[in-house]
Amino acid sequence: MKILVINGPNLNMLGIREPQIYGSYTLEDIENELFEYAKSLDGSIELEFFQSNFEGEIVDKIQNALNKFDGIIINPAAYTHTSVAIADAIASVNIKTVEVHLSNIFLREEFRHNSFIAPKCIGQVAGFSKDGYKMALFGLYGALK
Ligand code: DQA
Repeated sequence: MKILVINGPNLNMLGIREPQIYGSYTLEDIENELFEYAKSLDGSIELEFFQSNFEGEIVDKIQNALNKFDGIIINPAAYTHTSVAIADAIASVNIKTVEVHLSNIFLREEFRHNSFIAPKCIGQVAGFSKDGYKMALFGLYGALK
């Protein structure tokens, strides 16, 4: 089972960026933990990690996932609240996708309450910090196997 893990803009800044909201861990810490968790869940899970600050690159990556990946975990970051293009890309490839947010977007500013991506996903996890990626993988694995 091949899972693509996409992180959007500014998530490469974790560890430095607003630690009171996002904690002190880095994106690499998240990826390493998820890699170990995937192994413990099922040794046949293969993960690929991708981070970009560019909307079009994320759209390209999702399009290129067609016939290559069984599932997608995505933290679209700020593009959650703005990107019809990423939502359309997920709908186009029709690959089961789970949306993740480190913070609980519904406890934050009003503009973060809307997600263009969530209606194209099988589920959403928000507010559980880096554990949210493991929760997303657990749910996606259950939906795919
Ligand atoms: C985020 C929430 C978004 O609103 C924000 O723009 C991010 C991170 C999160 O993981 O909590 O960059 O997606």
